[in-house]
Amino acid sequence: MALPASDIDRSMLDDSLAHQGTDTLPRCSFQQRVRSRYHAFWYHLGERLAWSRGLYQERPAQELHDLSGVQYERIASLQRRFLVRFEQQATQGTALRQYEYLDLLDQGWSALKLPNSTGGTVQDIGSSNFWYAPVLHTFFRPTKLIGVEVEGHRMYVNGYSRHDYAQGYIKGLPNTEFHIQDYRRYRSPASIITAWYPFVTPAPVLAWRLPLSLFAPDVLFSQVAANLHPHGLFLMVNQGRDEAIAAASWCSQAGLVQYGSCKLRSNIRPRLPSPVLSCWIRPVI
Ligand SMILES: C[S@@+](CC[C@H](N)C(=O)[O-])C[C@H]1O[C@@H](n2cnc3c(N)ncnc32)[C@H](O)[C@@H]1O
Repeated sequence: MALPASDIDRSMLDDSLAHQGTDTLPRCSFQQRVRSRYHAFWYHLGERLAWSRGLYQERPAQELHDLSGVQYERIASLQRRFLVRFEQQATQGTALRQYEYLDLLDQGWSALKLPNSTGGTVQDIGSSNFWYAPVLHTFFRPTKLIGVEVEGHRMYVNGYSRHDYAQGYIKGLPNTEFHIQDYRRYRSPASIITAWYPFVTPAPVLAWRLPLSLFAPDVLFSQVAANLHPHGLFLMVNQGRDEAIAAASWCSQAGLVQYGSCKLRSNIRPRLPSPVLSCWIRPVI
């Protein structure tokens, strides 16, 4: 994808990078190590069992209810522009989250003046159960869409797994796949790679009930750089400025070059701190 000349203000992340050293991981306490071992047990058990109850499909809400004025306006505008009705395939909760991600993508794209994108392979890293696959499909119109999630066998209380949910969310989306795999070892080229709230510090890894052995952002972002086409784009959303700064440092270490970044407004599902979207390219040597 050819990027236009841009006068984007990159100061926010660039300045902070100069003050941030991430070559050593923060030390883990004894308690964190114990928690990590406990999560590792369940994570590996889940991997071994690879449990599935079969495809899970949400009961669609059909119509959205009890929206605030701001939510109503923004959703109506997204529906008109992208010709989508997420509520016809998903519950109200999921549909609102989907409109939120579409809104963030739309805001980021216009703030950074990125060119319209259609076709090509889009990979998403750490997709959970890939509930936002319809959003990525709507926005990027890819030739192929792949969600890569390391803990795809995680089971919910209803006995269905993330993989089962993912099969429901991608049903009907052409050329879309959900891969249960560690992205650090995922070798496959892509023109666009997205990462929504990737782990860039160790604490959220434990909060998501995962072992710290999965925390290796240096390897993860190097794999992004290796998979990205020469004119491809890596798009990342982080939770707040501090996380975006940590993430930017990892990306720079992996040899990616920042094209731009911007703070976004959560119009549909207010969240604090505000998400920060950044866009990265691979330098062509
Ligand atoms: C904070 S969650 C974000 C989930 C999802 N992107 C979203 O926006 O709802 C991070 C996700 O990344 C996954 N993950 C962490 N390390 C990974 C890796 N090396 N390869 C693939 N997925 C990974 C985790 O299992 C978790 O589902």
